Amino acid sequence: MVNEPLIQSDLAQKINLLKKEMNAVILAHYYQDGEIQDIADFVGDSLQLAQAAVKTQADVIVFAGVHFMAETAKILNPDKLVLLPDLNAGCSLADDCPYDDFKAFRGKYPDHKVLSYINCSAAIKTLSDVIVTSSNAEKIVRSFPENQPLIFAPDKNLGAYLNKKLGKNMILWDGSCQVHEVFSERKMIDLKLRHPEALILAHPECTESILNHADYIGSTTGILNYAVSSPAKEFIVVTEPGIIHQMGKACPDKVFIPAPPEANCACNECPHMKLNTMEKIYLAMKNKFPEIILDAETLRLARLPIDKMLALS
Ligand code: 13P
Ligand code: SF4
Repeated sequence: MVNEPLIQSDLAQKINLLKKEMNAVILAHYYQDGEIQDIADFVGDSLQLAQAAVKTQADVIVFAGVHFMAETAKILNPDKLVLLPDLNAGCSLADDCPYDDFKAFRGKYPDHKVLSYINCSAAIKTLSDVIVTSSNAEKIVRSFPENQPLIFAPDKNLGAYLNKKLGKNMILWDGSCQVHEVFSERKMIDLKLRHPEALILAHPECTESILNHADYIGSTTGILNYAVSSPAKEFIVVTEPGIIHQMGKACPDKVFIPAPPEANCACNECPHMKLNTMEKIYLAMKNKFPEIILDAETLRLARLPIDKMLALS
């Protein structure tokens, strides 16, 4: 494929033209760069993006997010073209839960139901009874009878948070988010000392040592909504800093401070989410490539626990 040289400032216009020509919709996660969020038709958390994928009348879905999110959109729209601008945009949670290993793990607990965090591959979804996201996990865990034994995969931090909050004893798969796991408790406490009025808002993918300090724990949408409705003026944001784009737009008078990792950086970006660029979005639309392709059986089996989640949400 030969592509013409691209002028950065023209990209938004070119993408908008292609959207009309192709009857395409761009769905973007909050962790995308601000310019991508601004070109998107819908920006949301993982649950909202799945719900938007169900509702869309577009012929083409361009997913500005990571692979498992685009797979979910494809599972919900088997007959539509679903494009992911960079197929390498993975997720440590999905990557650390291979199908064969998880099948063997599940086999050890035949009487358990399997709740899988949406951050897993389509193959893992086929082995799951219900999918959850960080915004509906509590509600879905509570929907099971008290005496029903449960497996929670693949995020041990979200699973441990739910176990503690709900008094559960779910068996946890040993996976974690490479971004949320490396926030520095020491630097976060230091930030709080320098900004004593700031509230700490954290995503439940963080470790317990971080969550213990949080004034609010929730999904990206939960964090955004909390900041909007709170009377506080300063917030330390302990999740991927892409969310601060919408927080700043919604509350221009408030201050949002990204929490740093232990490494020598000021903020903690997801390297997978940040693989998407305006240029790659434009090229994916122009070339109708790279697209998400899944076999019919995976599409059929992975849809069942996603539909169950949507019905329970
Ligand atoms: P939510 O947007 O559902 O809170 O998920 C965060 C995340 O890490 C997505 O990869
Ligand atoms: Fe996966 Fe973590 Fe990146 Fe979300 S932030 S896509 S959970 S690696």
